Amino acid sequence: MAGTELFGAEERKEINDVMETGILFRYGHDAQRNNHWKAKDFEAEVKKITNAKFAHAMSSGSTAIATALAASGLGAGDEIIVPPFTFIASVEAVLFIGAIPIFAEIDETLCLSASGIEKALTPKTKGVCLVHMCGGNANMDEIMAVIKKHNLILVEDAGQAFASSYKGTFTGLFGKAGSYSFDFFKIATAGEGGVLVTNDEETYKKADVYSDHGHNHVGAKRGMEDHPFLGFNYRISELHAAIGVAQTRRVPSIKKKNQFNKKFMQDLLSKNKNISFAKLGDPDGDSATHLNIFLPDTAAAQRVVDEFNAAGVAGFDYWFKNMYHFINQWDHMKNLQTVSKLPVELFDKPQDYVKMQLPKSQEVVGRLITLASSLQENFRCYRQ
Ligand SMILES: Cc1ncc(COP(=O)(O)O)c(C=O)c1O
Repeated sequence: MAGTELFGAEERKEINDVMETGILFRYGHDAQRNNHWKAKDFEAEVKKITNAKFAHAMSSGSTAIATALAASGLGAGDEIIVPPFTFIASVEAVLFIGAIPIFAEIDETLCLSASGIEKALTPKTKGVCLVHMCGGNANMDEIMAVIKKHNLILVEDAGQAFASSYKGTFTGLFGKAGSYSFDFFKIATAGEGGVLVTNDEETYKKADVYSDHGHNHVGAKRGMEDHPFLGFNYRISELHAAIGVAQTRRVPSIKKKNQFNKKFMQDLLSKNKNISFAKLGDPDGDSATHLNIFLPDTAAAQRVVDEFNAAGVAGFDYWFKNMYHFINQWDHMKNLQTVSKLPVELFDKPQDYVKMQLPKSQEVVGRLITLASSLQENFRCYRQ
């Protein structure tokens, strides 16, 4: 993925700033840090790209989505609609804030559909955790209509969709809060890191406090501030944030190259009438980190995967079978195998996770093969 392919002098410079002071922590040590505030700089870079009013960097995309859910007011016993196609972190986040995941159907955008959400509603549904998959964006006009009609809290896991937008608004900024991941398999990486975004000051303040043991960060005495409520340690280190700064600055040019390469591949592949592509809520806003190819059906996709494997082709994902991104591989989740009891085990659940049927999602993911973007030389050679 692009970010990891582009490590260079800029990343080293940001890291060296931190190494020279030895202040690896985002809070405190004001006198020693030589005015280096990499977590704040990282947040500023993310705001520049997304136009978010507020951004808060954290230790991972997983902690960022968990914080986004909690800071949006979702918690124990609340039913939250989730997709069956996502990195499992989105579902784990719902479980670990004490809420109850309710699975709904996705459509050809690879994201929850408005009709899928509406069909999964129960009188207890409080929120939706919408995941923008594979660099793209969901059908936001339709989804927002359902969110408003049923007075739901929308939280967006845009872990895979940083820099993707829908009709001018960036993913993560349609609901109460959203999150991005900066792990190794993203448009930009911080090594490990995540950023929460919101346009709501109250939600931002809650996230800031929640992700640092309840400290409200008012006043100069680190650790001796007021604690409006409990939190936990989801802090990002300055070293990770430093890499995030340099990498995020690269994102506009990465996105441009991704879009160019994706179009090139798509134009070529379009000549085959058996191939089509995942839809995008807004094609112009695609971050183009993934080329999502539909074969006519699951059997055809499986044949292609077998042939790829036999020929030694790498760099593709068949999520239906291989990866940690589809519900078919989540037996431990479906059986609620937990190391110690979670709140979800104490509540009545409207869905039997083992027996539930999601035929549309099975059909969509069954015929999907994804190629991740690459800016490497061999990709460029292929283009000539
Ligand atoms: C949609 C989505 N949400 C959350 C995450 C978790 O991010 P992280 O690995 O930074 O914890 C990922 C990571 O792949 C993801 O794809």
